[in-house]
Amino acid sequence: MEMTRHKLIIGNCMSMREIEDNSVHLMVTSPPYFNAPFDYKGVFDDYDHYLTMLMKCASEVYRVLQDGRIAALNIDDMLIKGKKYPITADATKIFIEAGFKYRDKIIWKKPDGYLRISRRSGVLIQNPYPMYYYPDNLLESIIIFQKGDFDYKSISAEVREASKIEIQEIKDNKWYMNFWEMTNVLPSSKLEKGIAAFPDKLPYRIIKLFSYKGETVLDPFVGSGTTMKIARQLGRNSIGIEIKKSLEPIIKEKLGFANVQMSLNNYCDTYEVYMREDDRYGYIC
Ligand SMILES: C[S@@+](CC[C@H](N)C(=O)[O-])C[C@H]1O[C@@H](n2cnc3c(N)ncnc32)[C@H](O)[C@@H]1O
Repeated sequence: MEMTRHKLIIGNCMSMREIEDNSVHLMVTSPPYFNAPFDYKGVFDDYDHYLTMLMKCASEVYRVLQDGRIAALNIDDMLIKGKKYPITADATKIFIEAGFKYRDKIIWKKPDGYLRISRRSGVLIQNPYPMYYYPDNLLESIIIFQKGDFDYKSISAEVREASKIEIQEIKDNKWYMNFWEMTNVLPSSKLEKGIAAFPDKLPYRIIKLFSYKGETVLDPFVGSGTTMKIARQLGRNSIGIEIKKSLEPIIKEKLGFANVQMSLNNYCDTYEVYMREDDRYGYIC
């Protein structure tokens, strides 16, 4: 099996200066929630500040992606104090304005049993009258963008065959539909505590569907490192960017490099970390 390379940049993804133009083959990520209840509370001054961060990230993703390649974002609207912020629509617009073509939208449904009736939706049970309705959200979006058109002939027959997806896997998991049922990660899981990680299945599907073996997958909001871990498992290289320095040991462990002696020979997967000290803004490390 070919060896893979994994690079973590500790810094702000509004700049991806360590990454060369047209050098990445796929971007898959889940951006931070706008004022998510636990770990981002108060990080963004306001919604415009949040959108500006996404805008700068989108323009960097456009720069580093190769022509024809895909950017996939797991994202969702956010209800704060009774007002829903249209994050999915705004992110779609931002990526289109950065130069991408809007290619598709997949709906991810979490299991019904995952959410107990929350305080929010429970209000209707307490007050079964009109105007008390705030449903719990079991859905998220995966929005998919493409930078121009893909040249299928640019891939060698050998790499194409090595990256073939089993038809049975497509059928068994109903990948042919834009409705994916996947169990989410529990917020209390060991390596994902307080991180709002997505399940392995999400980057697994996107990486298999939109990249070839030996290519490079980028996650600019890498969190616990789920995308990098799955990229490694699937024989892809990865680049992760994460603003919280404190997540580095978690990412290293998740990728399976925690107890591995780094070696300079060419026979093992490699893991590098770049610590950018100059541009952490307002994040707790
Ligand atoms: C929703 S989490 C990603 C979780 C990830 N998909 C996983 O499975 O673990 C978003 C991550 O983005 C990081 N983040 C927020 N703003 C950032 C920025 N401007 N640049 C880089 N990372 C950022 C947060 O610290 C958080 O870890």
